[in-house]
Amino acid sequence: MVQPQSAIVKNFSLQSELTKDHSYTNGQILSSMNCQAEESARNVFIDNLESNLGDPALFPGTVNIEAHVVRILGQLFDLPETGTGLVLTGGSEANITALWAIRNNMKKELDLPTSKPMELIAPESAHISIDKAADLLDLKLISIPVTDSYQLDIKKAEEAISSQTIGIVGVAGTTAFGTIDPLNEVNELCLENNLPLHIDAAFGGMVFPFLANSEDYNLSFKLKSLVSLTVDIHKMGRVSIPGGGLLWRDISYSKAIEFTLPYLAGKPRQNTLTGTRSGASSIAFAHLWEKKGRIGFQNEVNRCVHNTKLLADELKSRGFLIPIDPIINILGVQIPKSLIISQVEFHQTLWEYGWTTSLVNGSLRFVIMPATTRDHLINLLKIIDQIISK
Ligand SMILES: Cc1ncc(COP(=O)(O)O)c(C=O)c1O
Repeated sequence: MVQPQSAIVKNFSLQSELTKDHSYTNGQILSSMNCQAEESARNVFIDNLESNLGDPALFPGTVNIEAHVVRILGQLFDLPETGTGLVLTGGSEANITALWAIRNNMKKELDLPTSKPMELIAPESAHISIDKAADLLDLKLISIPVTDSYQLDIKKAEEAISSQTIGIVGVAGTTAFGTIDPLNEVNELCLENNLPLHIDAAFGGMVFPFLANSEDYNLSFKLKSLVSLTVDIHKMGRVSIPGGGLLWRDISYSKAIEFTLPYLAGKPRQNTLTGTRSGASSIAFAHLWEKKGRIGFQNEVNRCVHNTKLLADELKSRGFLIPIDPIINILGVQIPKSLIISQVEFHQTLWEYGWTTSLVNGSLRFVIMPATTRDHLINLLKIIDQIISK
């Protein structure tokens, strides 16, 4: 948030400012998709803060570790051997980078007239970073309505395709409700129209592959039109901020945004927005994967999803409305008229009790991250009972 000079605190004290911040550790943060890293991963991160992926001659080991992390993430989504990727600062940077590569490749391939803007199709449920990407890349964003199940409306997407369309974005784990677009149908649509598909799985990428019914969603490079996928490791991947993964089906996409750095040893080529970039999150994630393994992540994800469903059931039994039954660990809740408290008031009261929620798409959103246990939710329900009985 940019603050004007007039907002700057008088008698500034570093310590007193830091006391105002919330802590991820108390289990009461329900408004964020980030969480505290596991302690050992945090220590590994801190020990490697200055490792610089932008300078491969100085940090060749960290470059290999980033490639190792791309391989680990790639295995979750059947990334082919030709695949490649990067560890960036998060979902926004990964989405912008992916769409930058698609824009450059399609510009070359289609030889579109410059008098008309290139168009990008995305569901209205897409994260704001897609709007940012369109703005930066001079793309006209065609926002497609979602269905009652908060998924991209395929028919409307089909109708929106024009000669200027350069690609379609699908979402796996929407920011508001955690829903996933009908990927098989989006893939068919892309193939029929010769369009590349980018999937934003910033949140869902470290959730869907671990669900018992993960195959139902087909979040995979087996979808032939899928060229890139965003998967954050600083959300459900449990490493410290900043850490976001980007996977590409093949190197032609990374090549489309390649620049050579003439002033560094070895004149490295870069395919990133930032030049200097920390390798700390790659190293921490490689450590965490070695420590927990697939099973460790699977247990954690399923515990969070189970707790989310439990909260949904408890709230339903108290008369709250659940517009979309949760499929992952994001829950949207609406207040029925019978409870005589407005959504905003309810949300503010929860904040006063220390439980942070957010208001998204007309619902109160609860994100149940690993720090929030079943016992925390039982305490939350006691507070909710107090609020609604007043
Ligand atoms: C679906 C989705 N994509 C992208 C992002 C952006 O990620 P970041 O905040 O790491 O830039 C978010 C953040 O919540 C998200 O939910």
